[in-house]
Amino acid sequence: METLQKIIQSEGKVVNEGVLKVDAFLNHGIDPKLMDQIGREFTSRMKGEQITKVVTVEASGIAPAVMAGLHLGVPVVFARKGTSTIHAEHLWKATAFSFTKEAYSELSISKELLNDDDRVLFIDDFLANGGAAKAILSIMRQSGATLIAYGAVIEKGFQGGGDWLRGMGVRVESLVRISGLQNGTIQFDEERGA
Ligand code: G4P
Ligand code: NA
Ligand code: NA
Repeated sequence: METLQKIIQSEGKVVNEGVLKVDAFLNHGIDPKLMDQIGREFTSRMKGEQITKVVTVEASGIAPAVMAGLHLGVPVVFARKGTSTIHAEHLWKATAFSFTKEAYSELSISKELLNDDDRVLFIDDFLANGGAAKAILSIMRQSGATLIAYGAVIEKGFQGGGDWLRGMGVRVESLVRISGLQNGTIQFDEERGA
């Protein structure tokens, strides 16, 4: 997605060889027009798939997911981080390991909001090491929902989460793929990113 790549190029900050900061438009500040274009792009990629729900994870996945839900005309549900034990029996839940934050978090979705009738487009801001992906696949299995595609606004292809998902037979839709962050510059994977 060319517009997105240009904004990453101009606003993104390379923190180190593993981390790209995009607080200007995705992880802190949010660019509504860009989110709208992102929603439209995911929608056009899901043509004919009869998506019934967009699923994401709080917080940064919500903006692109809502825009995709708007254009697809389907509801959105975000997995919460940290579960209350009080209503545990009403939740699908799985533990995600964040490689970036070196911490575990519990992801949960109410059983009332996701079930075996659902055909899901999952969307996240980053696809990196796949910590969230593993937890999401577990929640999909528990609920019986069908994962049609795993969407990422930005895939860091060099961190393996996307390749792990593809190896599991999951359709991955990344709007931009980054192949490296060496020497303070962002390398885009031109072939597979668009
Ligand atoms: P994963 O996304 O493949 O699961 O990888 P990882 O476990 O490393 O990601 C943990 C958190 O770090 C996620 O955010 C993810 O979006 C974010 N992240 C991963 N790589 C980058 C990066 O290069 N830049 C930035 N800015 N974030 C990255 P989260 O904990 O879910 O937080 P939130 O943003 O949704 O609140
Ligand atoms: Na994030
Ligand atoms: Na996220």
